[in-house]
Order: sequence, then structure tokens, then C-alpha cells
Amino acid sequence: MRIVNFNSAAIRLPGTIEMFSHRNRDAVRMFTGTAGGVYQETKIIMLDLVFSFSCFAILGWILEVAYRSSCAGRFVNPGLLKGPYLILYGAGALILMEAAALLKAAAAGLAVKTLVYFTATTGLELLSGIIVQRLFHAHLWDYSDQCFHYKGHICLKFSLYWIVLAFAFEYLVMPPYRVLLWHLDPVIKGVFAGVVLSFILVDLLAAFLRTFFRMTPEERPVAYAEFRDAATPVLALPDVARLSQYPHHLEKTRLDHVKEVAHLSFLLGRRLSLDCNAIIRGALLHDLFFYDWLREGPRLHGFRHHTIALNNARRITCLSQKEEDIIIKHMWPLTVVPPRYPESLVVSLVDTYCSTRDYLCLDRQNKTGKTADGCAGPAAGEKLI
Ligand SMILES: [Fe+2]
Ligand SMILES: [Fe+2]
Repeated sequence: MRIVNFNSAAIRLPGTIEMFSHRNRDAVRMFTGTAGGVYQETKIIMLDLVFSFSCFAILGWILEVAYRSSCAGRFVNPGLLKGPYLILYGAGALILMEAAALLKAAAAGLAVKTLVYFTATTGLELLSGIIVQRLFHAHLWDYSDQCFHYKGHICLKFSLYWIVLAFAFEYLVMPPYRVLLWHLDPVIKGVFAGVVLSFILVDLLAAFLRTFFRMTPEERPVAYAEFRDAATPVLALPDVARLSQYPHHLEKTRLDHVKEVAHLSFLLGRRLSLDCNAIIRGALLHDLFFYDWLREGPRLHGFRHHTIALNNARRITCLSQKEEDIIIKHMWPLTVVPPRYPESLVVSLVDTYCSTRDYLCLDRQNKTGKTADGCAGPAAGEKLI
């Protein structure tokens, strides 16, 4: 969208400079021709861009909430994300700013403007609809019941609305917004944009994960049966059941911990089409040691307990090469040698995630290993170490 030609030391950003950099034109002139000047100006432009994106993502959310809630007669939170922002509006505002500035520079007439606004807004809506459908398997809007629609993503009526909104944006929103940009301190802009963007990124990541792990109602019982069939024989081993006597992370017992790691690793492995039987068995056995590691046991527990767990596991069950690798590599990268199988990497990552989360207390309700309920084995057996 914006081209910075570092080689010629001239900034070729007509739209951007027009929209964002009136206050800094003197600085631009002063700096033009120096690498530092180009860098400084690029920084200013980027700051205004991310600030504008954040602002209009929030304002767009307010607009959508007002429209959808009034139509539905109740509060409706639009969009895929949980927070009060819509990426589509943030991106749309940046595109319209650039388009408006370029059209002004080209002294374009009303017909050309209308065509450009139609293409920009409807194109963005179509692209967003397709991306959300492909990546998140969701329809955030559906124009199927409207005349002249394309696959429910776009329709003539709303395209006309967008054109009107684009003109309103140019003539009603942009003038006061320019004044706001002029007066706002860069630090305030930076902090605001940083906070909003951070929330958006975390929210987006959470949405990806929700989609990734989501199961259909038909899938759920199949997955549960798959997990139960692989986990029950291991949990029935007396020495695995004994893990419930040892604290592991804060209020969690070691049995809770291994069940949780096994369950999450299974879900991830299932999505990645990995060997889930090995993942479940290896994860349930990955911390098979019998001491309170915070108060007793060998020195350098973190570097040694995977070997102890492997030896204990070998004594109570027959392990495949993959299961052995899962247990012995579960502390990677602390133990340097990388996992040999993707299943080992999955368990190692999930184990790290669960441990970190336990200590950050991000999931206080989930302290009892409820993920594997119904698979609990019998009580204690003999001590192995
Ligand atoms: Fe461990
Ligand atoms: Fe662990």
C-alpha cells in the first residue's frame, strides 16, 4: 500500500504524507536525502497507521454493535473476536484514507470516486468473508436472502451502503480525525495503539486455537472413546494411580498433571493426524517418579527426572520406541537432544504450556484433572523409586 524507496532517499508516500504528516512536513523536507530522515518519517507514518487502525477498529465495532443490536433487539457482539474491535473496519479505514488521498491528488471526479469506493469496500468485504470462512469455518454475515448477492459474502444493497459510508468517512470523519492526529502526542498514540494491537493479536490467536480444537457433535464421542480406550489401561496400572499421592504443581497432583498433558496432547495430535495412542501413553507416563520434587528426590531434578520416569515406565509396561522418546524428551529443550518424533514434540510443548499455566495460575478452576474423568485407575502399588 505504501512504498518507501530507501535507495533514492525520497519518500514516495503521497497518500500517507497527505493524511498523516502535515505536522512533519518541515521535518520531511529537512530529513529528505538522509537515511536517518527516511527512517524517522517512516516511524511517524507507521505510528499514525497503527493508531488509525486501532481507532477505527474500535469505532467500527461500535457502529456494528449499534446496527446489529438495534436490528436484533438485544446486544449483539459482532465479529469473530471477543474484544470491542473489528479488524475489517480498521483495515477498511486505512484503505479509504489512502484512496481518498490519492483521488484528491488526481483531482478525480464523483463517478471515479464512487467506482473506487465501491471496489475498495466491496472487495474488502468479499475478501474478509472468504478468509473468515476458509480459516475459521464461520459466516459473520450472510446476504443470501438479499438480491444480487455473491455467495452471501456481498450484495448490491450493502455495497451501496458502503459507498455512502465511504463518502461520509471522507467528508465527515476525516476532517476532525486529522485535527485529532495533529494534536495527539506520539506517546499517547503509541501506547493506545500498542495496547489495542496486543489485545487484537491475543484475541486472534485464541480464535485460531478455538477453531483448531473445535470438534463437531459427531466427533466428540469418537474422540472421547479413542482417548478412553488408550488411557484406561495405563491409568489402571497401580503405579500410575499412585501419582495421585504426590503434589506436582501448586494444588495439582502429579496424576492430574499427566492426565491434563495427555488430554491436551491428544487433542493437538488428533488434529495433526499423529499417533494418538503413543501420545496418550507417553504423556501419561512422562512424569512417572515417586517423590515430592520440591522437597526431596535427586539434585537437578529438572535434568534427571525424565530418565527416572523412563526407567519406571519400562518396569511396568512395554514401551514402543516412540513412547520412550516422548518420555525421555519431554523436558526438551532443557535436555538439549531434540525430539525424534512429532509426537514427542507435541507432548513436550503441551507439558511446558501446562506447567507455565499452572504457575501463572491462569486456570484456577481446572486444578483437578477433570479432562480425563472416568479413566481413573485403582489405588496404590509398590514404590519404584
Ligand atoms: Fe516432567
Ligand atoms: Fe510434566
